[in-house]
Amino acid sequence: MRLTVLFAALACAVSATACEPRPLDKPIARSETLADPSAGLGSPDDQPLPLAVSLNETMVALVDFAADGVWRPAASETPLTDTQWALVDQNAVNLISAASLITMKGQGVNDEAWVVNPDWRRWSLEMRTTAAQVRAAVAARDQERLRLAGDRLVEICQTCHQAFKPGLPSMGVTRFPVYPKPSTT
Ligand code: HEC
Repeated sequence: MRLTVLFAALACAVSATACEPRPLDKPIARSETLADPSAGLGSPDDQPLPLAVSLNETMVALVDFAADGVWRPAASETPLTDTQWALVDQNAVNLISAASLITMKGQGVNDEAWVVNPDWRRWSLEMRTTAAQVRAAVAARDQERLRLAGDRLVEICQTCHQAFKPGLPSMGVTRFPVYPKPSTT
């Protein structure tokens, strides 16, 4: 990496044209950055960007839809088509990504306390492991394995909710009532 940077700098020194175009190196003018550069971006180091929504919103808008996209096909009595398998796989990827997201505190009032709790972290990891099992079922085109992973996923959601979910979701956000997610087009 450092060598590449060094090489680019040398190339520029030798020939001015080697520097054109250099959009990535161009300093970003202050006016091009966010209106409030400190808003939600954190420090400009290699840390993950802070989660700028609540964990509850992440559950509703990401985790719940992705899980639904695993459970529906898992309950299918007929063989899944290639397109259906591809969708299951993408939903599993959403769940794996979400598992990492829910280990960071978001903007919900309880988020900070939840993400440091060892049980919370354990159930987040379990969710990721199970989503990986869903992907393995997809790779093997194995509906029985998909069903088993789907059942495990239900247990994980329920166990974590029993342990942590307040009676009423924080911020008044609750799940979108229509499944599957309707298309906006
Ligand atoms: C690591 C713990 C954890 C896991 C795993 C988890 N949840 Fe949640 N979930 C929560 C908590 C805590 C809340 C409530 C957040 C709040 O109110 O601020 C919540 C809220 C929700 C909500 C919105 C509240 C409601 O009742 O409508 C939905 C929907 C939801 N989760 C779905 C799921 C699904 C589906 C899964 C499994 C695929 C899952 N969650 C896995 C902890 C978890």
